[in-house]
Amino acid sequence: MANSKYEYVKSFEMEDEIMLPNIIIVRVDGRDFRRFSEVHEFEKPNDRKALELMNECAKAVLEQFPDIIFSYGFSDEYSFIFKKGTKFYQRRASKIHSLIVSFFTSVYVTKWKALFPQKDLRYAPSLRSRVICCASVEVLQAYLVWRQYECHLNNQYDTCLWNLIQRGKSQKEAEEMLKGSQKQDRNELLYQCFNINYKKDIPEIFRQGTCTLKTEVEDIVKYKDDGCPVKRPRRKVITVHSENIASRRFWNDHLCLLKELGPFTEDLNKTKPEYLKSFQYENKLMPSTWIVIRIDGCHFHRFSEVHEFEKPNDAQALNLMNSCAAGVLEEFKDIVFAYGVSDEYSFVLKKESQLYRRHASEIVSAVVSFFSSMYAIKWNEFCPHKEMKYPPYFDARAVCYPSCEILLDYLAWRQVDCHINNQYNTCFWMLVKSGKSKSEAQHYLKGTQAQEKNELLDQLSGTINYYNTLPLMFRQGSSVYWDKETKMVDNEGGGAGKSRKIVVVKHCNIIETSFWEAHPGILDEKHNDFRL
Ligand code: GTP
Ligand code: MG
Repeated sequence: MANSKYEYVKSFEMEDEIMLPNIIIVRVDGRDFRRFSEVHEFEKPNDRKALELMNECAKAVLEQFPDIIFSYGFSDEYSFIFKKGTKFYQRRASKIHSLIVSFFTSVYVTKWKALFPQKDLRYAPSLRSRVICCASVEVLQAYLVWRQYECHLNNQYDTCLWNLIQRGKSQKEAEEMLKGSQKQDRNELLYQCFNINYKKDIPEIFRQGTCTLKTEVEDIVKYKDDGCPVKRPRRKVITVHSENIASRRFWNDHLCLLKELGPFTEDLNKTKPEYLKSFQYENKLMPSTWIVIRIDGCHFHRFSEVHEFEKPNDAQALNLMNSCAAGVLEEFKDIVFAYGVSDEYSFVLKKESQLYRRHASEIVSAVVSFFSSMYAIKWNEFCPHKEMKYPPYFDARAVCYPSCEILLDYLAWRQVDCHINNQYNTCFWMLVKSGKSKSEAQHYLKGTQAQEKNELLDQLSGTINYYNTLPLMFRQGSSVYWDKETKMVDNEGGGAGKSRKIVVVKHCNIIETSFWEAHPGILDEKHNDFRL
């Protein structure tokens, strides 16, 4: 397809390949799950059903992505470990962690009802994610020691805290009592005051967290004529609990872990501080630049086929995307503009945004996870007669643009792309509907210019200027931004105009400067007298 003059903006995208031989870990964790668990009345300090839901999501992740071999989770976090030398999405960090958090979130929302049949999901849950690189299997071992130690410490502390609170202490008093206490003190407190033997009485799932891993099992696929079974090895996902997931014993007992990640050669009881630092490394986006988060549906070609989206454009599916994007703007006040077409959306953060201190993976993952959550939640509203057959997911990246001009060229690039693709797809499907095969239609359109395509459409449809009769949303994509809405308020002194800010979805030409001149407040805060 033709290149547009705006394509140079692609050169601002950064490579983020994770070099071999690093082992890739993706960790996801709940965004403000404290509030989420309060609103949904999770039991304290642990809600078994909520943990089971997390485990179900982890299991789904392992089943979906063959290269993920092992995962470990507790509370609202999960770490996923890829096999050594994986080529998954050619090891691009942003792509990998964003699509995992997106898939995880989508599964969380879709499985919610099964685990909480009596509770409605009150708002869209979302998680953050990041990649952690382990230079060797020893570093991976240290990482696991660290996470399981955290699980233990948190759980022991919370068990004490909530028992004290249940006995009538205020949260402040309970916290004061636990200040500076050691592990041993807390065990004693539990035993003396509450008759709780921490190791015996507290379930493994709370104390140890949960591992989800792949094992090899043999399935009988058929029987030979002589009655002998024909077996084929298959990988099965199982869930286990273990006191020490980083021990040689646990690790080397699971053949799949040994084979795909390598052996643990000695036991490790403590993590070295220099390892911890590398686990906490975060990539910061350049200050005073426009950050664009672009999300894109993964395998939406298949998703749209399975869900019988209309071709080439499905208004319901596009409206669903638009509604999710509007939700994102309401959630993240630093996002000033969004532009969407097909299965992609670009979100523009204001230049001076300090969202997540400009940490790339936090912004990328929070946005894509929230979007995915909304997509799964709103599906029924927009596609009421279609069952969602499997959870959709999106990948995301962050790109910084140093000036307003380049940012506008970026948006123009996406809109030109929308136009080129839409014109091509409209011709393609019209040719197919007229009786041509898909490959004939493809051949027919090869090398045709815009003008020829328009003439073809006129000819096939019998309508002059047919292309321009198509809905604006198909031709121009969707722009989402905050705008003033003036409402006539009926009060005693007569109708007075009252304005409030709302998120609007419009289909306009954003390549021409007139749009930006008419809405100076979107990109320039000086003109912005209504956004928070
Ligand atoms: P990856 O993004 O690489 O995972 O592949 P993808 O299958 O998602 O394809 P890509 O993002 O390049 O293109 C989006 C695809 O989504 C289109 O090619 C269509 O197949 C599909 N799609 C998006 N919107 C619609 C729609 O409104 N109707 C139909 N029928 N298909 C759509
Ligand atoms: Mg896609």
